[in-house]
Amino acid sequence: MGSNFQEMHKRRKELMAQMEPSSIALLAAAPARARNSDTEYPYRQNSDFYYLTGFAEKNALLALIPGRKQGEVVLFCQEKDKLKELWEGKLLGPEAACDELGVDDAFPITDIDEILPGMIGGCDRVYYAMGKDDQFDSKVMDWVKVIRKKAKMGDHPPNEFLVLDHLLHELRLVKSTAEIKLMEQAAKISAEGHKRAMAACKPGLKEFELEAELLYTFTRNGSRSPAYGSIVGAGDNACTLHYDSNNCEIKEGDLVLIDAGCEFEYYASDITRTFPASGKFSPEQQAIYEIVLKAQDAAIEAVKPGAAWDAPHNASVKVITQGLVKLGLLKGRPAQLIKSEAYKEFYMHRVGHWLGMDVHDVGDYKIDDHWRLLEAGMVTTIEPGIYIAPNNRKVAKKWRGIGVRIEDDVLVTKTGHKVLSVGIPRTVQEIESFMAESIH
Ligand code: GLY
Ligand code: MN
Ligand code: MN
Repeated sequence: MGSNFQEMHKRRKELMAQMEPSSIALLAAAPARARNSDTEYPYRQNSDFYYLTGFAEKNALLALIPGRKQGEVVLFCQEKDKLKELWEGKLLGPEAACDELGVDDAFPITDIDEILPGMIGGCDRVYYAMGKDDQFDSKVMDWVKVIRKKAKMGDHPPNEFLVLDHLLHELRLVKSTAEIKLMEQAAKISAEGHKRAMAACKPGLKEFELEAELLYTFTRNGSRSPAYGSIVGAGDNACTLHYDSNNCEIKEGDLVLIDAGCEFEYYASDITRTFPASGKFSPEQQAIYEIVLKAQDAAIEAVKPGAAWDAPHNASVKVITQGLVKLGLLKGRPAQLIKSEAYKEFYMHRVGHWLGMDVHDVGDYKIDDHWRLLEAGMVTTIEPGIYIAPNNRKVAKKWRGIGVRIEDDVLVTKTGHKVLSVGIPRTVQEIESFMAESIH
C-alpha cells in the first residue's frame, strides 16, 4: 500500500462528508502539455487530484460517489501496457490501484465512456472544476448527453452542477501534520539553496550562475522541480517583481534579489533574500533594507489565530510608510499617506499569499466580503518589499534602482506562528558576516 494511503483516505472521507446527498464528484488528472513537436513539459499532477489520490500518472479520473454500495471511490487509469511502459516507464494499472491507492474500484480509462455515465446517471448533482479546462467541461457534457439519451429507459440525468473547488480548497487551506512536515522539508532544502547562492555570489557572475546553485541544491536534495520560476535579479532587475530572464551580469555595488523555492513531494516553498553582491551594504541599501526587515518582523508578529488576513499586510504598510517618510522618500503624514495609498509607488504588492501544494495556494481570502480570520494550520508567505524605480526622478539619484524583498513561509499555530523557512541569514549583520566567511 502507498505510504500516504491513510492521509488520502481521510481527505476523501472529509470531502465526501460535505457533499450534498445523491451526488458525484469528478476530478481529472492534469493533461500532458506539449513543449514542442515531440517533447512534453515535465509532467506534474494536478494538485487537487494528487491531494485526494497520491497518484502521479496522467490519463486518469477520480469519481467520488458517497454512499454508493459497490464502492464510493472509483479510479479510471491507464492499463498496464508492455510497449508503452518500455518507452515511458511503469504504469500502475487498475488491477493494482485498489491495493496501492486504497480506492474501492478501478477501471481502464479506455472504458470510461461506457462505465461513467451509468454512475453519473444515478446522481442528482455533479461536482467538478467547472470552466477550468474546456476539454474536460465538454467531456462531462458528453457523458450527461449519453444519460439524457437513455433517460427514457429509466436513468435520470443530474439536474445540478456544482463547483468542486470551494469544498476541496477549504480542506487544502488547513494543513495536516504530515503536510506541514513536507513543507518544512521544502523550506529546509530551499534554505540550503539560498545559502549556497549567497555564498557563491561575487561581482562578475551572471545571474543564472546563482540560479544554477539553487537548482543544484534543490535537485541534490530530492526536489524534482522549483515551485515556480526562480528570480535572480541584480541591480535594477530587483525592481521587476516577476523578473525571470536571470541573464545579466552582477556588478559591484548591486543588490541581488533571489526569490526561489523548491517543490518537495508536491509542496512548495517560497523564499526571498536580498543581499549585496560585494558582501557589504551601501548606506542607502542598508537604510531601505532595515525598513523592509522591520516591516517583515511586524507582519510576522501579526500572524496568529483569530487575526484577520489583512492584519500582517497592514502592519507592513505602516512600517514601510513610516520608514519612507523618515528617509524623505515620501512626504507627508504617514496616516494620510496610507489612506491615499501613496506608499504603493514603492510597495505595490500585498504582503503574502497562501502557500501549499501550489505556490499561490488555493483558499479564499475573504468570506462574505470580509477578510477571513487566520486559523492554525494555514500557511502564508510574509514578503514585504520596497522597490525604487530606476527612472524615479522624484527621488534623489542615490536611491534609484534599489529593490529589496524579504520573504519567509509562516505557519499559523494554535498559539501564534512558526516560521518554516529558518536558517538563512536575514539581518544586515547576519548577511554581511555570512558573506565575509564565504569569501572565495
Ligand atoms: N515567487 C512568487 C511570489 O513570491 O509570490
Ligand atoms: Mn517569492
Ligand atoms: Mn510569494
